[in-house]
Amino acid sequence: MTDITVIGSNMIDLITYTEKMPLEGETIEAPEFEMGFGGKGSNQAVAAARLGSKVSMITMVGNDSFGKEHLANYQDNNIDVTGVGIGTKSSGTAPIFVSQDSSNRILIIKGANNELTPTILDTHLDTIKQSKLIVLQQEIPLETNYHAIELGEKLGIPVLLNPAPASEHLDLEHVRKVDFFMPNETELATLTGLPTESLDEITLAAKSLVEQGVKHVIVTLGSRGVLWINKDNDMVIPSEKVHAIDTTGAGDAFIGAFSHYLTQGEDIPEALKHANHYAGISVTNRGTQKSYPTLAEI
Ligand code: RIB
Ligand code: NA
Repeated sequence: MTDITVIGSNMIDLITYTEKMPLEGETIEAPEFEMGFGGKGSNQAVAAARLGSKVSMITMVGNDSFGKEHLANYQDNNIDVTGVGIGTKSSGTAPIFVSQDSSNRILIIKGANNELTPTILDTHLDTIKQSKLIVLQQEIPLETNYHAIELGEKLGIPVLLNPAPASEHLDLEHVRKVDFFMPNETELATLTGLPTESLDEITLAAKSLVEQGVKHVIVTLGSRGVLWINKDNDMVIPSEKVHAIDTTGAGDAFIGAFSHYLTQGEDIPEALKHANHYAGISVTNRGTQKSYPTLAEI
């Protein structure tokens, strides 16, 4: 049984906590470091699974020790690993720099994530067919996402696309078929080519996507909350005030939690409110998946 199929990435996050970045040729010391499981796809899968959803992960890990650790991590989180393949490249890694104001800079080296081809998805149709929601991000080849969107359409399964990190190659012809498009302001601007400085501008950009066929556009606005736009609604769901320590992966916590509450039958505003709460807890702790609470912990 599968509630949610996540088709996406895995990374090992190498998080350095530092105020200063070295200049060229310079060596400086940073006070602290943490290593943990990351990757936008895996993060979203783990968040949904920790809340109790039955999650299947379709991903490619590297043929290395990180790959083995990822497999064990999925199993520890009760995630179905039938769709986890082993590639020829190294596992994805993400050097991350977090500063004292809790903001981050992330570099990704996709490695084996680039080996997740459209053809591989066809070998996991049995899993995909069972799910109530297909969840996608942009750390795997775009063609694979396009194929997943087509499969969702053909099988009548709703598709959620989180277009992160932003890609100027993302094609609206495919995006218009998704049920849930969940960008931040920058990603929304990249796709629409419209300004997204103010809430009014963001609303106009989101509405333009609804006019082109996207069922729901949900824009994450950081500490301000989220904006939900569809044919009949235009609503901001504010987030709770929290003391942020490390916001790495907070967007993924939000999307994983939203996927969980939605497939459990909550309506959209309710699911968004609960997802805000979940992501809010994650930013009060260090690390990516490490900071995602379980159902019992919330
Ligand atoms: O969204 C946060 C994630 O982005 C990190 O876990 C890192 O791996 C990158 O994929
Ligand atoms: Na965190």
